[in-house]
Amino acid sequence: MKILVLNGPNLGRLGTRQPEVYGSTTYAELADICRQVEPEADVRQTDDEATMIGWLHEAADSGTPVVLNPGAWTHYSYALRDAASLAPVVIEVHLSQTAAREEFRHTSVISPIAKATITGLGVEGYRAALRALQAD
Ligand code: DQA
Repeated sequence: MKILVLNGPNLGRLGTRQPEVYGSTTYAELADICRQVEPEADVRQTDDEATMIGWLHEAADSGTPVVLNPGAWTHYSYALRDAASLAPVVIEVHLSQTAAREEFRHTSVISPIAKATITGLGVEGYRAALRALQAD
C-alpha cells in the first residue's frame, strides 16, 4: 500500500546527529527499514518547509496516508499543521521522547490533527506507525 513517510529538517543527518538522542541508524537505513515493513512506502526528507507542505498537498490530492516526523517544525509550524490536516490520515512520529527533553519540545502543534503520536521508540516508532496504517 502506498504510504508517504515524510521527514523534516535535520533528519537527513541521522546516524551522526546526536546518536545518544536519536540513535545510530542512518537516514538511509531508516528508509530501508520503512520499505521492509511496507514495500510501497515512499520515504522522503527535506529541510525546506515549502517542499514539505507540497508533499502534504500531494498526500491530500492522492488520498495517501502519511507517517510524519516534522522535526523541529513540530513545535511551531501552523503552516505545516494546516497542510497536514488536509491529508486523509497522519501518524506523527518522533524518534526521541520529546516530553522528557527541553520545554520547547513539549508542545506539538501537529498532534491535535494526528491520528496518533508515537514518541521515544526510535526507528521502532516508524515500524509501528506503518503497521498501524496497514491495518487501518
Ligand atoms: C524529533 C524531535 C524534535 O524535537 C527535533 O527537533 C527533531 C527530531 C525526533 O524525531 O525526536 O528534529 O522530531
